[in-house]
Amino acid sequence: MSTSVQQQNRQHFDVIAAEWDDSPRRRELATGVAAAIAETLPLQAHWHALEYGCGTGLVGAALAPRLGRLLACDVSPGMLSVLAGKARAAGLDQLQTRVLDLTSEPPPAERFDLIFSSMTMHHIPDVPALLRTFHGMLKPGGWLALVDLDTEDGGFHGKDVPGVMHHGFDRIALQDDLRAAGFVQTGARTAHTVSRTADDGRVSHYPVFLITARA
Ligand SMILES: C[S@@+](CC[C@H](N)C(=O)[O-])C[C@H]1O[C@@H](n2cnc3c(N)ncnc32)[C@H](O)[C@@H]1O
Repeated sequence: MSTSVQQQNRQHFDVIAAEWDDSPRRRELATGVAAAIAETLPLQAHWHALEYGCGTGLVGAALAPRLGRLLACDVSPGMLSVLAGKARAAGLDQLQTRVLDLTSEPPPAERFDLIFSSMTMHHIPDVPALLRTFHGMLKPGGWLALVDLDTEDGGFHGKDVPGVMHHGFDRIALQDDLRAAGFVQTGARTAHTVSRTADDGRVSHYPVFLITARA
């Protein structure tokens, strides 16, 4: 099951990669997320960080100047290609990209001070398994920052987006999963709220959480 879900994700995001950054809603969300992470965590200029599900790097490119090295990982080569072009143009030498799917591949050998992931966990079939993998990839005391939707009714993506495995997450339950995976000092806050207007003019608000924890 996991393989076909990730093939769907790869194909879907490869197709939309070139237009991903055109959306003001996505750019605003990423700006809010990057600011929330920078306010919440004691980012250090010597940190070696990994972003999981980086997409075109709307969050990662904003945080990279605050970090020593950033390995930006995604299942979609198309999304990574957009990010690599932006990083080159901006002279972000500390940022490297890598195709990586931790649901079907072993983690990199190196250990990280920080792993962060924005709006990707809802594409992951087995979230507790990925949290255990993240824990093993962090240095002792290293930080994890997870950003995603609070539990919603499915209206955020609608019916047309493939590979959506979760309609958001319950913050308490996700922190329980983090502790079960070995994390400590878990905390949660709202990073941003996305507002969407339906065809009938009805406006829906989707809060996006930032959950942090330490290995
Ligand atoms: C909703 S987009 C978010 C992209 C980016 N984080 C942002 O905030 O703009 C989800 C991203 O997760 C990636 N993704 C989905 N499943 C993945 C997996 N199993 N491993 C790595 N990346 C995955 C997709 O390719 C896509 O780039």
